[in-house]
Amino acid sequence: MHAHARTIVRIICTATKTGINKIVDICMLEVILAAIHHSDPTPFLLVAQTANMQGKRLWENRCARAARGLTEPISRKYLRTHNPMFLTMTTIKEKMAERTKFVDNWFEREAQLEGMKKGIADLLNLARCTWPPERALPEHITKICKEVIDKKPDYRFFGLPELRRAIAEKLERENGVDVDSEKQVLITNGGMEAIYLAIFTFINHGDEFVMGNPGYVNAYESNILMAGGRLVHVPVKEERNFELDPTDVEKKITSHTKIISVTSPENPTGAVMKKNDLAVIAEIAKKHDLVVFSNEIYEKLVYGGKRNVSIASLPGMEDRTLTINGVSKGYDLHGFRVGYLAGPEAAISRMKNMQSHLSCSINDVGQHAALAALRGPQGWITDAVKEFEGRRNFLVKELNRIDGVKCLMPDGSMFAFPNIKEFGMSSFEFMKYLLEKARVWVHPGTLFGPYGEGYLRVSFSRSQEVLTEALERIKAALENL
Ligand SMILES: Cc1ncc(COP(=O)(O)O)c(C=O)c1O
Repeated sequence: MHAHARTIVRIICTATKTGINKIVDICMLEVILAAIHHSDPTPFLLVAQTANMQGKRLWENRCARAARGLTEPISRKYLRTHNPMFLTMTTIKEKMAERTKFVDNWFEREAQLEGMKKGIADLLNLARCTWPPERALPEHITKICKEVIDKKPDYRFFGLPELRRAIAEKLERENGVDVDSEKQVLITNGGMEAIYLAIFTFINHGDEFVMGNPGYVNAYESNILMAGGRLVHVPVKEERNFELDPTDVEKKITSHTKIISVTSPENPTGAVMKKNDLAVIAEIAKKHDLVVFSNEIYEKLVYGGKRNVSIASLPGMEDRTLTINGVSKGYDLHGFRVGYLAGPEAAISRMKNMQSHLSCSINDVGQHAALAALRGPQGWITDAVKEFEGRRNFLVKELNRIDGVKCLMPDGSMFAFPNIKEFGMSSFEFMKYLLEKARVWVHPGTLFGPYGEGYLRVSFSRSQEVLTEALERIKAALENL
């Protein structure tokens, strides 16, 4: 082989759609062009890094022309048959799978906010979706965690059998849902992995996924798009307590619909679905032969003596419902990353296979903590729920005292969802205003989909002192508007 043929030269260049705009090492280019000239027709490897295919072709043509002293572009056919061999590369960005482009950068948005928050020393955070940080976990949970660590945590495929049994018992006792713990329950890495597995198990290209908005769309939308599906929003209305209206759901059903997704209580609105409405949604699912995803992760946080109803418990629904739940919100165990799925055996079995290639196992310490939470004393949960209810009442009452703010009393979750439309600012502008002028951080309603415009999500899972101080600051900031 000719000496030149073994030479691999790397040119780093960037190319735009209109052409090559920057050559990092111009001397190197001249060396290469001379080498091409001498080596013709011996194969020669030119490794160039371009941003896209157009850049790659431009490079090939330009080098081939230069090698022959030609000024006119060379035809691609001639280039293929007579030219030294080119090995050009697109950038790493161009090599990534198309589907990954659909992933919404939720954390970058959060990071931008982090940037805005920097330097605000006495910031009050009412954006969190976790229990109050100052609340300690009960000893029966921390003790078991230490014991598992001492024994060395192990792999636990599909979940600890004892935890799956505890979940099946809880589903029967509290939700009226009868499942076999071996075949119909899968422990997941938080509710998030449960959502991911459910979507990738059911969504094919072109399938439509119907869900309420504003809602917890962030966790769903990117996955639906990556799976090739389409998210169909059903606007939920303030006049209806933000509860999903079955009539509106049915209007969105097409021949492509595969899933109806219900989240009750909902994040960010706190809406809790009524049994009658769930029964109508169940009938719609049966009539159109659809699968229902029921996210019940906030089910413990329901107030005013109300109870959350599981759609899987309604007649004929057990074979078409996937229940998504976990211990993050109901037991203050979000950092332990334990969620679960319960549903038809065929779906759970498929998801077990998928999980075995995705995350392989679920955190052993977290699962023992979840087991202790489910099987242990429940008094600390009922006490916390009572406390949350008091704070909800306080926050909503005080928000409604502010001129221009209208806030419904949410039946569940840990969020109030005040309407701020009268201020004539977007949710994002309002959020920024409160950050800058009140040093209080809340989420804009639009973080939960387009129909969240004109609302804020304000968490009441903070201490009474924090809520009181935050409200005073908000009132003062809004008086200057
Ligand atoms: C409705 C809903 N589902 C799922 C999750 C995720 O739960 P986990 O922390 O268990 O992954 C959240 C978190 O905020 C949520 O609001």
